[in-house]
Amino acid sequence: MDVLYVASECAPFVKTGGLADVIGAVPKALAPLGADVKILLPAYPALLAILNTGALVASYDDLFDGPAKLVSVQAEGLDLLLLDAPHLYDRAGSIYLDETGQDWHDNHLRFGALCRVATDIAREGVADWTPQITHVHDWQAGLVPLLIELDGMAKPPATIVTVHNVAFQGLFQWETKNLFNIPDEHFTSEGAEYWGQLGFLKAGLAYADAITTVSPTYARELLTPEFGMGLEGVFQARQDDLSGIINGIDLDAWNPKTDPHLAKSYTARSLGRKDDNRAVLAGRFSLTKSDGPLFCVVSRLTEQKGLDLLLEVLPTLVENGAQLALLGSGDPDMEAAFREAQKQHKGQVGVIIGYDENLSHLMQGGSDAILVPSRFEPCGLTQLYGLRYGTLPVVATTGGLADTVTDVSPETIKAKTATGFHCEPGNAASLRHAITRTCEAYADRDLWRVLQRNAMRQPVGWDGSAPTYLALYKKLLEA
Ligand code: ADP
Ligand code: GLC
Repeated sequence: MDVLYVASECAPFVKTGGLADVIGAVPKALAPLGADVKILLPAYPALLAILNTGALVASYDDLFDGPAKLVSVQAEGLDLLLLDAPHLYDRAGSIYLDETGQDWHDNHLRFGALCRVATDIAREGVADWTPQITHVHDWQAGLVPLLIELDGMAKPPATIVTVHNVAFQGLFQWETKNLFNIPDEHFTSEGAEYWGQLGFLKAGLAYADAITTVSPTYARELLTPEFGMGLEGVFQARQDDLSGIINGIDLDAWNPKTDPHLAKSYTARSLGRKDDNRAVLAGRFSLTKSDGPLFCVVSRLTEQKGLDLLLEVLPTLVENGAQLALLGSGDPDMEAAFREAQKQHKGQVGVIIGYDENLSHLMQGGSDAILVPSRFEPCGLTQLYGLRYGTLPVVATTGGLADTVTDVSPETIKAKTATGFHCEPGNAASLRHAITRTCEAYADRDLWRVLQRNAMRQPVGWDGSAPTYLALYKKLLEA
């Protein structure tokens, strides 16, 4: 089974969020099941070093106003097809945003070019390899199903679009369609049009053979105006082709027993050693010694993540004798607010604004609980890392957070299924209550250990979902 993945990020090479983790992990889980996945990715500066070790498989004299090369390379157990187009991708800073924090002015070309090249690979193949399935991720790859349909190739691959976050849709002026030779007949609400614009994600949803998203609950939420972000009608129309497949995590990259970023490794049987990580982490965040739980946050700081609610309830957290270590970056106002909170609660609240992959591992290894109070969350990965590290998740009941964490109650304690604490999305009072409940549970050391062990037993790898993807690929090939 030959499968082409098309995506804008891939761990460990280039990452701004969970999309990268997923793209870097699923192909490795599919390989033993017999799927040969190649990942088409822009050759951003972070990839230039490995680019030089690859083999040229195609070249373009002019790909949207500049020359480009397609290079095949193996790295970190992944098969990559890197699109080297310096005029589009060789830029310092963020892969999506310019120095002023705005989207790059030519993102329609940067990711449209990626979609164009994916279509060429679907038609011609590369180095004697032609995909039977083209699986595209998020808006950056969303045009591919439409371009494949327009191409009229003799044997088109089946197409799947996966929605990792419907908040990002890739909307551009309708005239942008001229660059991709999209005829006006596709300017319809069943087609590629979204309120007068060309929608890259919309095009994927309209023309792909199947649509998936990253949790069963989010698949249901997408059908509603509250979560569909204007696309709920499209999801409803395609409900029969829509499924929610829960994300897993890379169990090798995230393993408290072998994690090189921890001060001390540990297992479910040696959880006492987690305290050493906590001490190191407290030092990194200038926190004083405390008997209460240490909560952490590792997150983009955006409206989605609901961390403004956490700011509201911070006094309660501190009054309960708990502490907070936050690693994150994003919205400048929220960054400033957390810096201010750190000053106000010196020694109890520590804040590091920035992006630090290594530190994110120590945060999971050294904290007692991880807060994820999102307003919506397609899947969420940090709560899964939390489960694996015995760092109990405190989550809002939305999307994948609701699907992966079981609230502590007398019944779930008895059934040995309790793994964390629930609160209502967008509700500060409910978050406050969940934090208080976490502090109470933490005070009962025996109970806390039981909960940690329940969490660490959860099957958070790709064993469940990789076969589900494979079954979907097979179904599409048989259709
Ligand atoms: P999203 O993709 O919406 O940002 P996820 O929970 O799916 O949310 O994935 C976020 C990923 O990015 C996780 O791997 C998390 O550890 C990582 N991450 C987020 N913020 C930071 C940060 N400031 N430093 C390091 N890693 C981060
Ligand atoms: C998106 C979502 C997140 C999900 C990730 C990977 O970034 O916001 O919830 O875990 O994609 O699918």
